[in-house]
Amino acid sequence: MLACPVRNCGEALPDIGRSRRCANGHSFDEARSGYLNLLQPQDSRSRQPGDSAEVAAARRRLHDRGTSSDVLRAAVEMLRLRETDVLLEAGCGDGFYAAHLASDSHCQAWGVDISAASVEAAARRYRHCRWIVANADRRLPFADGAFTAVVTVAARLQSNEFRRVLQAGGKLLVGVPSAEDLQEIRGTGRDRSSRVLEECGSDFTLEEQRRVTARIALDAEGIEDVRRSIYRPMQAQPAVAMTVTFSVELFLFTVR
Ligand SMILES: C[S@@+](CC[C@H](N)C(=O)[O-])C[C@H]1O[C@@H](n2cnc3c(N)ncnc32)[C@H](O)[C@@H]1O
Ligand SMILES: [Zn+2]
Repeated sequence: MLACPVRNCGEALPDIGRSRRCANGHSFDEARSGYLNLLQPQDSRSRQPGDSAEVAAARRRLHDRGTSSDVLRAAVEMLRLRETDVLLEAGCGDGFYAAHLASDSHCQAWGVDISAASVEAAARRYRHCRWIVANADRRLPFADGAFTAVVTVAARLQSNEFRRVLQAGGKLLVGVPSAEDLQEIRGTGRDRSSRVLEECGSDFTLEEQRRVTARIALDAEGIEDVRRSIYRPMQAQPAVAMTVTFSVELFLFTVR
């Protein structure tokens, strides 16, 4: 399942208790909270790459307020996972989608994120999934064809790697913020649909496209968390309660 992340290695990393060692002797220990850090020095430009603990916590509080519930429900309907599926979430953040998709279908699920703080949060709360710190913009630390489904929401989009780790017939669910997502806070955004179709078009066939939009009333604390989640905390204007649009464009592809 796991492949050694050391450059030019890629040997299998078998599961031996709480540590992993490849045939070339590279070894990795599980963190106390149960995740594996496979980040290599060349994978990160900063000492703590990806989202900070504060951003991960803000995003988790928003998930817990139900701001992603409609997207999750649509993902369940579109992916139709079964117990025999093996799911990967790329850029999993605090693990919300992987964990709930796994609970719903009883499938095995893995999450990968470059942020150790986010993966730590995922591992602490969702013990029924496997959590890995790795750079999803590089080679994913998994064997070819290890998964039957990959999901990525507002995160990484590397279609050639998704294709490599998926089996024949595998499914890819991509979610990107639509132009109206959080428009009350950051104005109208870009339409990212053509980029998704371009990136995935050569390896995948589009099966379904769906926009999921919810207007949710948040108090000032909730608005502050939205600001944190888009890396705009502590603005001059104090946060006030308001209704915010959460809108994600979902694309379901199958391996071509
Ligand atoms: C907008 S968040 C979305 C998180 C999660 N999918 C969700 O919807 O809650 C984007 C995530 O991508 C992660 N990320 C950024 N660069 C990455 C990389 N190169 N490899 C893996 N994850 C990365 C960030 O740490 C962050 O958790
Ligand atoms: Zn190795």
